[in-house]
Amino acid sequence: MTFEQDLKASVRTIPDYPKPGILFRDITTLLGDARSFRRAVDELVQPWAGSKIDKVAGIEARGFILGGAIAHQVSSGFVPIRKKGKLPHTCVSMEYALEYGTDHIEIHVDALQKGERVVLVDDLIATGGTAEGAIKLLRQLGAEVVAACFVIDLPELGGADKIRAMGVPVRTLISFEGH
Ligand code: PRP
Ligand code: MG
Repeated sequence: MTFEQDLKASVRTIPDYPKPGILFRDITTLLGDARSFRRAVDELVQPWAGSKIDKVAGIEARGFILGGAIAHQVSSGFVPIRKKGKLPHTCVSMEYALEYGTDHIEIHVDALQKGERVVLVDDLIATGGTAEGAIKLLRQLGAEVVAACFVIDLPELGGADKIRAMGVPVRTLISFEGH
């Protein structure tokens, strides 16, 4: 099996979760397998292995797990981007599009210095609404978003293209058709 096939096989698919008709791509099985977890982290950071990254920003919730490991790997700081009301200090807030309606994500106002080079991390990109909101937040604080990386892409939903159109290079490791 290739690396990609191997990694894909480590993701568990759960039909009709969280609602009927949705195929939920569950990465807990990937994370629980030492080899898959290490290889996913290594592959995600590979393009930036030689360049200076000031911060890795992870999106709640699964982006924290991958982002923490990646930050350790590239010896950068870690910045959490969270759902509304979860961060204790003064925040900058951004509305983002959900499948139905909108929500808000937030970042601490002093999480980054202007000009810092940031890599954004999440487990999965679907419509790209969440990542778009996160990039807007990072840019509002003056960060240079050098890349956005995700283990899983759902290409039919167009999220990766949306993020590339914002001028941010996107790295994904595996993709699933059907959602
Ligand atoms: C999922 C996934 C991404 C986001 C992608 O998170 O983990 O963060 O959706 O969707 P999008 O590209 O269409 O915006 P979810 O919002 O379910 O929250 P969670 O990670 O806290 O469970
Ligand atoms: Mg999420």
